[in-house]
Amino acid sequence: MPDDETGYDPYRELFERSADAILIIEGDRFIDCNEAAVRMFRAKNREHVLQTHPSELSPVTQECGRDSREMANEMIAKAFADGVHRFEWMHRRADSVDFPAEVSLTSVRSGGHMTLHSIVRDISDRRRLEEELRHTQKMEAIGKLAGGIAHDFNNLLVAILGHAELLSCDLRDQPALLTHVREIHNAGNRAADLVRQLMLFGRKGARKKSIFDLGELLRESKKLLERVIGEDVRLEIEIESTQLHIEADSTQLQQVVMNLASNARDAMPRGGELELRLRSVVRRGGDLDVDALSPGGYAELCVSDTGEGMDAETMRHAFDPFFTTKAVGKGTGLGLATVHGVVERAGGRVSVRSAPGQGTTFEILLPLVDAPLTEKVIRDSSPSAGAGETLLVVEDEKAVSRLVVEALEGAGYRVMVAHDGNEALSIFDEHHAEIDLVLSDVIMPELGGPAFLRELAKRGEHPRALLMSGYTGDALERSEDLPPEVELLEKPFSPRELLQRLRTLLDR
Ligand SMILES: Nc1ncnc2c1ncn2[C@@H]1O[C@H](COP(=O)(O)OP(=O)(O)OP(=O)(O)O)[C@@H](O)[C@H]1O
Ligand SMILES: [Mg+2]
Repeated sequence: MPDDETGYDPYRELFERSADAILIIEGDRFIDCNEAAVRMFRAKNREHVLQTHPSELSPVTQECGRDSREMANEMIAKAFADGVHRFEWMHRRADSVDFPAEVSLTSVRSGGHMTLHSIVRDISDRRRLEEELRHTQKMEAIGKLAGGIAHDFNNLLVAILGHAELLSCDLRDQPALLTHVREIHNAGNRAADLVRQLMLFGRKGARKKSIFDLGELLRESKKLLERVIGEDVRLEIEIESTQLHIEADSTQLQQVVMNLASNARDAMPRGGELELRLRSVVRRGGDLDVDALSPGGYAELCVSDTGEGMDAETMRHAFDPFFTTKAVGKGTGLGLATVHGVVERAGGRVSVRSAPGQGTTFEILLPLVDAPLTEKVIRDSSPSAGAGETLLVVEDEKAVSRLVVEALEGAGYRVMVAHDGNEALSIFDEHHAEIDLVLSDVIMPELGGPAFLRELAKRGEHPRALLMSGYTGDALERSEDLPPEVELLEKPFSPRELLQRLRTLLDR
């Protein structure tokens, strides 16, 4: 009731100031609505809403074979009959944009009149959050699954690739047999690529991060990129800024560039141009709400191709794991999911612009760090033999340890073998003076690699160490207190890669 003196009417205030839209229906038209209703439906003013038929606030779509405007009329009739009716509904604004809403209808009888009070709440934000949560959960489940499979697969691949490589040395003068071994080796390598993708994608936490120069990484990647894109595609690399120090896993970042390049190649079957443009940009507070990046300096990498482009539907799903438009056997749909994961883990964002026939541009933003380099991105390929150094190999998987030992001994190392961390401890106790380096698996029953090294550290022993990591998942994140001199070698690796890493470590 309005206050007689001031004219203040608390009920009218409640109606006008409600954040939810309130509309009153009599018969089949609106007789009143509040300000929130005008705003929510983007109407010009109250009159505009009142002139609109209630069913016009629904999109003209077919749901379960029925017209949604017809259904809206039925809902209203039902609420008049039942008294109260609550449901979720798609509404249409005056500018033809649809939004999800929660609607509550209450029929009210007063003085022989029947009216319907409709309260409409916009639930777009809630829907978006639900969608994000679902997406995150899906990604996590797929990531776990993928990582788990990759882990088991990896040990098999190390054995397959390694023995194939050893065999091809033995068969050097039997060309007929050698071809078969080469085929095994090639197939194994393709499988290893796939597993690497799966593992990159499945891995949640960042691995050993280092600070490196993104420009340098691009320059170093040029040869590899050219090989990936083939002769028909022209490659243009423009590095416009220097000192682009970022903190990430450089191997993973290189994978990001390769994934984007191979997508570009696939989009340009008749050739074209691939351009990588790198520069530093500054993000200010104002740009924030777009992608939730904090203000500061970023390295911006744009990867553009002149290929066939993507339609809106493809673009919407492009980053989903296992989404591919390529033929069976041609694409796994993990390329961009991996790109997305790696970039996000480095604190950055990736977005895409494209249209059919207009080419595609991926834009990656990575936060710059103000700190000196901890890694020089140089991929060396010098031959690498042992010089009689003694290595302690700790590996529980027999197939892997046999192979590793064979490769190491063949290359001129002295090797001691332990099958788990405990055995390794007792060997180390006895021979620590002779051991030049520890080569250990990460996950082993009883005592794993990181725990073994920590145990040694407690005793004041800090041997040079190389960890062979399969699926790192959680196990390695918990070992962040590992001494910095411990390096990682990712499975599957070939004997050659193993020997190179060892040589570099021992010569350091
Ligand atoms: N540069 C591009 N131009 C046009 N379409 C692209 C481009 N990059 C990605 N796409 C589209 O996005 C999809 C997903 O890409 P993604 O790299 O994740 O998987 P894929 O290339 O199909 O398979 P994979 O990389 O695992 O072998 C592709 O199938 C393609 O339809
Ligand atoms: Mg791809």
